[in-house]
Amino acid sequence: MKIDFDVTAAIRSRHSVRTYDPDLAPDEATCRKIMAFDSDVGNPFGVEGVSISLIRGDRLSDLKLGTYGVIRGASAFLGLTVPDNDEALIAGAYQMEAAILYATSLGLGTVWLGGTLRRQAFAKAFGLADGLILPAISPIGYPAPRRLLERVMRSAARSDSRKPWEKMFFSCCAGVPLTQSDAGPFAEALGNTRLAPSSLNAQPWRLIKDGERFHFYAQYSDSLSAFDRKLKHIDMGIALCHFSLTLDQAGIYGDFCKCDALPPTPAGYHYITSWRLGSRGRDNSPA
Ligand SMILES: Cc1cc2nc3c(=O)[nH]c(=O)nc-3n(C[C@H](O)[C@H](O)[C@H](O)COP(=O)(O)O)c2cc1C
Repeated sequence: MKIDFDVTAAIRSRHSVRTYDPDLAPDEATCRKIMAFDSDVGNPFGVEGVSISLIRGDRLSDLKLGTYGVIRGASAFLGLTVPDNDEALIAGAYQMEAAILYATSLGLGTVWLGGTLRRQAFAKAFGLADGLILPAISPIGYPAPRRLLERVMRSAARSDSRKPWEKMFFSCCAGVPLTQSDAGPFAEALGNTRLAPSSLNAQPWRLIKDGERFHFYAQYSDSLSAFDRKLKHIDMGIALCHFSLTLDQAGIYGDFCKCDALPPTPAGYHYITSWRLGSRGRDNSPA
């Protein structure tokens, strides 16, 4: 699909917004544009049952205090509903982050919420169907000046910084850093992957460049709870979205696949997927 907003500009300007202007909600036309974008973009993994919905206005009256005071002034929310498995979490997060970046390009603020939400109240408001889960939501609205609570949260999570490039991106095998110049035409996509938001700003994505393939891993301890593992898979879907949308916009085409022959990796690396350069390769005239 042709992405008609500047992906890198949206990635660079996106940051979590927890305080919204209560007098300025996204209007119906803007909400419709976001939902139309979402249904066009989908996800590249062919996973079914993933859905992004938007609720706003009076349907939110039940949701008072629905975010434990973390969010103020929002009158619209995006919600992600998926079947309860890792692939669906990754695909759903990819799709929701694409909608978030598009909303950012329209001047809207968002923040992923996977923990600080009253899940049952939101599940009811989103009309969650049997057999699906609501792993995350995001308010959507126009940013207002940050409150003290928000400034404290950002500072605690070090939200303005990211791990250095050489701790995330490797060449041939984990531990051998991939330099920006070795990344060549992929450098912008990797730089944008590095800027992805993640739960507690943990940035679990690790990439190994293997010729014209990139293997993606989530780094986390094997003793992680089932709930926290879900958040890691969401983080990975978001990172994959930044990587793939940046390449699409640069006219570098490829696809995601599962590889059998993988380089050795340290404990705690959990293989997610690989991206390989497609047969159309580098082509600046998308079909
Ligand atoms: C999957 C996921 C879950 C998150 N859950 C919460 C949450 O429950 N409450 C919250 O205030 N922020 C939450 N965040 C926001 C992160 O703290 C934030 O993205 C990170 O600190 C980086 O800051 P930035 O988004 O401004 O770049 C979540 C982010 C992600 C990706």
